[in-house]
Amino acid sequence: MSKEAFAKSVKKGLSSKSKHLSSRYFYDDKGSQLFKKIMGLDEYYLTGAEYEILSQQAADIHKQSPFQNHFNIVELGAGDGKKTIEYLRYLVSSDINFTYIPIDISQEANDMLIDNVERSLGKIDIKPMTGDYFDMLDSLKQNNRPNMVLFLGSNIGNYSMDDASQLLGNISSSLSKGDTVLIGVDLQKNPNIIAKAYNDAKGITRAFNLNLLERINRELGGNFNMEYWDFYSFYNPKNGEVNSFLISLKTQEVWIEELKMNFQFQNNEVIYTELSRKYTENEIKTLCTSNGLDVIRFFKDKKEYFTDVLLQKK
Ligand code: AVI
Repeated sequence: MSKEAFAKSVKKGLSSKSKHLSSRYFYDDKGSQLFKKIMGLDEYYLTGAEYEILSQQAADIHKQSPFQNHFNIVELGAGDGKKTIEYLRYLVSSDINFTYIPIDISQEANDMLIDNVERSLGKIDIKPMTGDYFDMLDSLKQNNRPNMVLFLGSNIGNYSMDDASQLLGNISSSLSKGDTVLIGVDLQKNPNIIAKAYNDAKGITRAFNLNLLERINRELGGNFNMEYWDFYSFYNPKNGEVNSFLISLKTQEVWIEELKMNFQFQNNEVIYTELSRKYTENEIKTLCTSNGLDVIRFFKDKKEYFTDVLLQKK
């Protein structure tokens, strides 16, 4: 992501009446390391739940898929691949023919992923693609193998309902009839469990959010003083939304050199940073079917906290 795009997004977000910054910019090197730590926290149940599904139900997931012959597994934003490797492990051990095509905008992310996959599974057929998800997905149309698209980790939860629907529509329109999608979605559950996942005792999620301001300091020459900022998140069971914020702890002014602008913050003013939506099965079904994707089956972990939903293009 370019510095210009980051600067433009920060300018827009901090100039609006109710200030906001995009969670898309959480993931610089420091932010990615913090997210990795979050994924290892007891409170952040999402990663463990999806790992359990993919490692214990891989055979069932494959059995429900329509693919008999060589197919592509196309993954959007695989991260370190830890969970995907569990699914691929089953396919390799069952001699099922597939090509793994991870798509990421970062070449380094893809290189690291290939390293991890090969270290765990040996040489398999991997054809990484670097670039925008949808440009890459479209280019797969020329290839006449069936595709299974993986979109794991509840990344869909970071989009508003409208944007999530648009995203699924884009995925759907780049697929051919019969192709499948396996999408990871966090489910609504006891609100206390969700609230803790986004406000952990060690303060890693807090640091993850504060890093957004530190990133503005590092990359755009900002002078945010971390002593004067705090973090707040809450889950609303009425609409399934976790909303996260940064709080200004005093009336202050922050200079951002790259923008040559000063921004004023009132005491207790908040900056909205992230939406993490939790879904019901019915909401998922409506969202998917209205975008031309039929639900084949919901695969859930034992506690029923999380689901990987297998979908098929109509
Ligand atoms: C990447 N995404 C699905 C995470 C989530 O749960 O919304 C990001 C995250 N934010 C705070 N903790 C983790």
